[in-house]
Amino acid sequence: MAAWQQTVHSPEKEDWPGSQKGTHPVTSIPQYIFHMIQIFKKIARLFSYDIGIDLGTANTLVYIKDQGIVLREPSVVAMKGDKVKAVGEEAKRMVGRTPGSVVAIRPLKEGVIADFEVAHNMLRYFIKRACQSRSIRGPRILIAHPSGITEVERHAIEESAYEAGAIKVQLIEEPMAAAIGVGLPVTEPVGSMIVDIGGGTTEVAIISLSGIVYSQSEKCGGDALDETITRHMLAAHNLLVGPRTAEDIKIRVGSAHPLQQELQMEVKGRDRGTGLPKTVTVRSEEIREALQDKLDVIVSAIRQTLDHCPPELASDLYDRGITVAGGGALLRGLSDLLHEQTGLPIMISEDPLSAVAEGTGKYLQENDDVFEEE
Ligand SMILES: Nc1ncnc2c1ncn2[C@@H]1O[C@H](COP(=O)(O)OP(=O)(O)O)[C@@H](O)[C@H]1O
Ligand SMILES: [Mg+2]
Repeated sequence: MAAWQQTVHSPEKEDWPGSQKGTHPVTSIPQYIFHMIQIFKKIARLFSYDIGIDLGTANTLVYIKDQGIVLREPSVVAMKGDKVKAVGEEAKRMVGRTPGSVVAIRPLKEGVIADFEVAHNMLRYFIKRACQSRSIRGPRILIAHPSGITEVERHAIEESAYEAGAIKVQLIEEPMAAAIGVGLPVTEPVGSMIVDIGGGTTEVAIISLSGIVYSQSEKCGGDALDETITRHMLAAHNLLVGPRTAEDIKIRVGSAHPLQQELQMEVKGRDRGTGLPKTVTVRSEEIREALQDKLDVIVSAIRQTLDHCPPELASDLYDRGITVAGGGALLRGLSDLLHEQTGLPIMISEDPLSAVAEGTGKYLQENDDVFEEE
């Protein structure tokens, strides 16, 4: 028997409060109404479900409570005029290969919404696809967003989610979701530091007692590393390469610290002088050198955050170290570089690309009141 049935069973007339027969704990009509509302809420919840979304600048992930991550797609939309041609993986495949009239747009750039209309279409598409006709009621949605966005942008995200059919929307800052996702003790009175290196930004935050004590957001993430590689290929090899090739070079031979075994790969592109296709060999050493300036920006964001750390929490960070999440955490040798530059222990999270989405899921799982009115 459900808990509510124990207190409000058989709501027949003679059993109502005040009746002769009533030996019931519900003693007044307002109390009875209150109980009925609770019952209706519970029934309504049976027909709804909760989802978490990591709205990243490079990738969007959708987590359905009790199921896990059900969608993982690049945050890319292919547009022809004002018509959406493709969203996600299919749209990303079009980047750099699109015929003149089709443009591939990344609506979230450098941690802010660069194109509201496109962002809106993308979010709506992902929500609809992840949810399909899972329930007669729409979902309640918890969305993790870059911490640098404005009030107007926050509002725009909420609106898009409501238009996509959400019945309730809550937002959570990305570093908080990442910290929960990697299992840091965010609710405890100890300092934890999370570094989330995404596509558009690097977010560094110190968290204690469920709040962000200090955070910093740098417009320098994986995209900036890719752009640097494109410039390097042009300057050092006279080779024109697109953003996908640059990312491929970063993932296959990129590094932040000298490697035990240095790497090399063949890169195809177009010779700037002749305009003809050309193949060159690139070495991990030269790519590391090219990435140095951008990696310095990330290191100094971490150092500045450490400088702002309240003294009571600093000793926690010295003991517990820094946890790194986001796709950028996968760059070879990153933990060696960060350890060398900060002197702190560095933990790379187990699945950095999923940390934020996992965090929204855990938050939904562990808090029943996420969508309650404040
Ligand atoms: N193995 C890897 N090495 C280096 N960078 C990587 C690797 N895998 C993915 N990335 C980079 O991670 C970034 C995407 O990370 P993600 O956390 O999904 O970003 P966002 O939260 O902004 O959507 C991209 O710039 C991508 O190139
Ligand atoms: Mg992210």
